[in-house]
Amino acid sequence: MELIKLDISKSGIEIGPELKREAAEANELLHSGKGAGNDFLGWVNLPSSIGAGELEAIKAQAAKLRAKAEVVVCIGIGGSYLGAKAVLDAMSDSFELLRRKHDNPIVIFAGQNISEDYLAEMLGALADYSLAAIVISKSGTTTEPAIAFRIVKEEIERRYGKEDARERIVAITDKARGALKTLATNEGYPTFVIPDNVGGRYSVLTPVGLLPLAVGGVDIDALVGGAREMELASGAGTAFEDNLPAQYAAVRNALYRNGKKIEILGSYEPKLQNINEWWKQLYGESEGKDGKGIYPASVTLTADLHSMGQYIQEGERSMFETIISVLTPDHEVRVNSDADNLDGLNYLAGKRLNEVNKMAELGVCLAHTDGGVPNIRVEIPRIDERSLGALIYFFEKACGISGYMLGVNPFNQPGVEAYKRNMFALLEKPGYEEESKAIKARL
Ligand code: PA5
Repeated sequence: MELIKLDISKSGIEIGPELKREAAEANELLHSGKGAGNDFLGWVNLPSSIGAGELEAIKAQAAKLRAKAEVVVCIGIGGSYLGAKAVLDAMSDSFELLRRKHDNPIVIFAGQNISEDYLAEMLGALADYSLAAIVISKSGTTTEPAIAFRIVKEEIERRYGKEDARERIVAITDKARGALKTLATNEGYPTFVIPDNVGGRYSVLTPVGLLPLAVGGVDIDALVGGAREMELASGAGTAFEDNLPAQYAAVRNALYRNGKKIEILGSYEPKLQNINEWWKQLYGESEGKDGKGIYPASVTLTADLHSMGQYIQEGERSMFETIISVLTPDHEVRVNSDADNLDGLNYLAGKRLNEVNKMAELGVCLAHTDGGVPNIRVEIPRIDERSLGALIYFFEKACGISGYMLGVNPFNQPGVEAYKRNMFALLEKPGYEEESKAIKARL
């Protein structure tokens, strides 16, 4: 079965020869390594180059953490957490936390904010559970995860002592640089390396995503396998007609050039909500620069039809939407017949909810396209590891192609430094004395 189907028939775009040529050239640039940001192309062949030994080492480490802890705190921000969170949520029972018995440790996330309440409440909630942590930072110097890690490390050492903490803490970072690398070496933590040539937002298929996912019970072999299938289906020399990421990249660039500056990603499966968040980072950080870029937004459906639906239908005509459609749900629930029919729902009696959901999707698509919101549909057969792996690679590859078509370097993120400089100056971090004086003068 095809892992991904792309339907651009409701996008209003006819892909002409020029657009095809641009997308095909951008795809080739990713493979030849001659484009901007070419020192960050390690993700392009990543799925096919992950060795069985590497996957085994990740699974072995995951097994150790699983044996030790009921809760594993995964600490990271941006690309160092969004991918794992997205896949874990997609693969988890929506009501896992209500179940009395858990097959897997609960993986929770920290280090993606500096909220005192968040961390205090997390520590409070962890009091009754055995604990382990995975700390992830490519640079090894990011403030948010460093603060969270300091707090979680202290808690683990307080409970179990320094010796046992080494069995409960794993670091994922650069092979040589950064404070986290130094700390992990000094403390003797098991460490996994984030390859130099893979940027944070493209790192979900490295230990950054794979270790927390394996801890959470996700089949990482199948995830990587699905990604590998999409890698091969969009490799160097693939004809545009067969290259789904290239087609998606071409259509969204054509829409952008026609004034559609906002792309809304949505799904009718709430489990995919954090796929939206992962995708927003991937596209926002990759394309939003040099005064250009499609603004990536998201909705969860049908919930947001009752909030954002009005704007999408009738607001400013500057957007298009991309829907991730899941063909088959995992469960079967039908609408039952009711003798009184007071709610008037007997016309649905006997139907599966999925039929109703699919008619909502179709009805919304037609209403929105009638209202001037072009629609792109990305279908996956079901929510499983193989499909998600393919979906991840599909979006990554399309993002690289799309960024090159847009004329930006999709692999840097100079804009994320601006807030850090201000924050460090305001906090009087050593080395920021001049900035500190300057910023205080502005207050
Ligand atoms: O995509 C990126 O490069 C960023 O979003 C990073 O992932 C994020 O800033 C976290 O960086 P680090 O892993 O160095 O702590």
